[in-house]
Amino acid sequence: MQKNNTRYWKIDDIHRDNQAIKEAGAIIARGGLVAFPTETVYGLGANALDGKAVKKIFKAKGRPSDNPLIVHVAGIDEVKKLSAGCSPRALKLMHTFWPGPLTLVLPKSRLVPPEVTGGLNTVAVRMPDHPVARQLIAAAGVPVAAPSANLSGSPSPTTARHVLEDLAGRVDGVLDGGPSNLGVESTVLDISTGEPVILRPGGITAEQLIPVIGQVKYAAALEKDRQNIKPRSPGLKYKHYAPKAGVVLLEGRAEDIARHTEELIKRYQGENKKVGVLASAENARRYRGAEVLSYGSRGNPAAAAAVLYAALRRFDMLGVDVIIAEGMPDTGLGRAVMDRLRRAAGKIVKAAAAETDTF
Ligand code: TXA
Ligand code: MG
Repeated sequence: MQKNNTRYWKIDDIHRDNQAIKEAGAIIARGGLVAFPTETVYGLGANALDGKAVKKIFKAKGRPSDNPLIVHVAGIDEVKKLSAGCSPRALKLMHTFWPGPLTLVLPKSRLVPPEVTGGLNTVAVRMPDHPVARQLIAAAGVPVAAPSANLSGSPSPTTARHVLEDLAGRVDGVLDGGPSNLGVESTVLDISTGEPVILRPGGITAEQLIPVIGQVKYAAALEKDRQNIKPRSPGLKYKHYAPKAGVVLLEGRAEDIARHTEELIKRYQGENKKVGVLASAENARRYRGAEVLSYGSRGNPAAAAAVLYAALRRFDMLGVDVIIAEGMPDTGLGRAVMDRLRRAAGKIVKAAAAETDTF
């Protein structure tokens, strides 16, 4: 299948379809762009050691050039040449969580071009837990710089179809390895300075990190404390993960959220708006007069993470004008889900204030 000069390879069997991965690797080795599956979301890969190739990623996505990229490796050994020094703590994290959804920010080596790091003196690295991703990196023979394979600002892709919706004709190829299992991006953990800081909550939770490296902080909390420090992750300042419709995020207790959602549906319908609700399974059946998509139980953030981005894209296909999203508890993987919903949302409402709130 060919889509506007974008090659497409379906990988059903990693051994039988090895030739396709070799071809895709060769494209990356010669400076091209290939989108590929990872366990978190699909990535858009280029040779991380080739500044010119990396520049094409920013162009294809419409991404601001000061937002640095994650470098993907197929083995821990490859990090040695990318980083100016791997601390025992860094190695411990790699041995515990790799391959997997943990990105480590380390001091960079001279080998990593400034296009990858947005001029920072650190580099973000991760080893993905997806056989197609690792075989692609091995086939390319170079580390692979890759952001999520979506147009900048829109929801990240969790299937090859999502990638083609955004990037057909703008990239050289797409490897289809089926849907991403996890559905939200990796945790970005900065260990380049003394205190480990979570720059972006993701697939590896704080609860999982603490037994391995002790207490960790969230950059978001640090930045609130110290108003005037520079954001540590340039990506955090941009609006992200947003569908075309406006998102209103309701936070609070399940019952308060349900009541507030029902009121909002009525209000928006009165304004002739087509309403979508991203609902918990507990509340989904209560809502009338709206397109309702359930993310599963409020108590199961892993299920919500797996469907979150596909649901946001689906609402756009349905042509809704506004999406009301039910928040969930901020613990475990729920932290990553809520982080993405907050970044997608134009408005965040505490549902407990339902009676008095007149927005
Ligand atoms: O799960 C993932 O991490 C996916 C898959 C494809 O691996 N990738 C991904 O990449 O989410 P992207 O570009 O969408 O997000 C990378 C994040 C951004 O917030 C960026 O600012 C941050 O990592 N980042 C990259 N390098 C950094 C650095 N040297 N220092 C601080 N933050 C960095
Ligand atoms: Mg992204």
